[in-house]
This record gives sequence, structure tokens and C-alpha cells, in this order.
Amino acid sequence: MEAAEWDRRYAEARQWSVEPNRTAAELTAGLHPGRALDVAAGEGRMALWLARGGWDVEAVDFSAVGLRRGQQDAPPGARVTWRVEDVLTADLGSAEFDLVLVLYLHLPRPQMVDVLARSAGAVRPGGYLLVLGHDSENLTRGIGGPQDPDVLYDPELLGGAVRGWGISRLERIDRGTDSGTAVDTLLFAHRP
Ligand SMILES: C[S@@+](CC[C@H](N)C(=O)[O-])C[C@H]1O[C@@H](n2cnc3c(N)ncnc32)[C@H](O)[C@@H]1O
Repeated sequence: MEAAEWDRRYAEARQWSVEPNRTAAELTAGLHPGRALDVAAGEGRMALWLARGGWDVEAVDFSAVGLRRGQQDAPPGARVTWRVEDVLTADLGSAEFDLVLVLYLHLPRPQMVDVLARSAGAVRPGGYLLVLGHDSENLTRGIGGPQDPDVLYDPELLGGAVRGWGISRLERIDRGTDSGTAVDTLLFAHRP
């Protein structure tokens, strides 16, 4: 989907809960706050969760409407820089963030491989990369998410971005929703 389509979706209604993704919140809750990059931050639910926990966050997304909602929801004093940029061309930085998040960003495979590699490259030594999104098995045993297999995740895709890193989690996980169970792929890895 193009930026204009995402803008339209966000303008129609709030798309995601203001609550953080539960898995991402659990995994990051114990980390010492530092600098975080939220790649394709949407309405900023994770950026705001991290900022409330004392993180200094850069939230990048090409939807100005999505990011504006996050900005409006931000508590006073939240340290979030809202960057309206295309992640395919944005400078994500080099080895400078303590935590980089990529949640539910779905792009054609070659583009996704590139964004994952640059997201991993943005993590400083000792920092963490957390990626979570709809898994390919969702097509056969899960619900929701994109139906194009080319944009879905699998453990091999995510693991390819962090060869030689410490892998805490690289697996398919089930996520309960109001309408049934969805299958996600999760990566949580630590750069040596
Ligand atoms: C399903 S939403 C997920 C938002 C957020 N990560 C979350 O979990 O709440 C996908 C987001 O990816 C963004 N996106 C898709 N392609 C993008 C691109 N090329 N550059 C920047 N943002 C993009 C969309 O604007 C949208 O906000």
C-alpha cells in the first residue's frame, strides 16, 4: 500500500489500539531505556509505550496522518521524534540505537530483506532488534493480515537479518484476537 492509502485508512479511524503490542511490550519492559527506532511506527503505539518508559524514540513512517495521531496521543514531555519518511529510502542510521523495532511492516520480499538489513544495521553493538509480523502460515491456519504470500514473514526471512547475533526468540507464535487465532513470526535478537 502507498502512503496515500495508509493516510486514508488512518484518517477514517484509529487502526490500532493505543495499547502497545503485548509481546513487544513484554520483551522490551526489562531493557534499560536508551535510544530506540520504531520503523513503520504507524500511530505510534510502541513509540509512545517506550517513551513512557523513559526511552528517547525516533518514529519513522510514511503516513503523516498516522504519525500525527501518535503525536496527539503523546503525554507531555515524551521524547519522540516523528519522522514522515519512506523506510525504503530513509536513513535509519548506523549502529546507533539501543533498540530497533519493526512491527507489522509488510513489503515485497526483496524490499523487506533490505529494510530488515538496514534496521539491523541501525542497532548498536549490545543493542536489540525486535521484529514481529504476520507469518506465512496465517494463510492456512490463522486469520487476518495480508493475503499475499510475498509480503508475509517466516523465521528464515527474519533470521537472515541477524546472522551471528544472539537470538533470544526466532519462532512462530499464536496471537489470540476477537475473531480467532493469528500466526505471527517473532524475532528478538541481541547484537554482539
Ligand atoms: C500494519 S501498520 C503497523 C504500524 C505499527 N508498526 C504498529 O504495529 O502499530 C504498517 C505501517 O507501515 C507503514 N508503511 C508501509 N510501507 C511503508 C514505507 N515504505 N515507508 C514507511 N512506512 C511504511 C504504514 O504507513 C503503516 O503505518
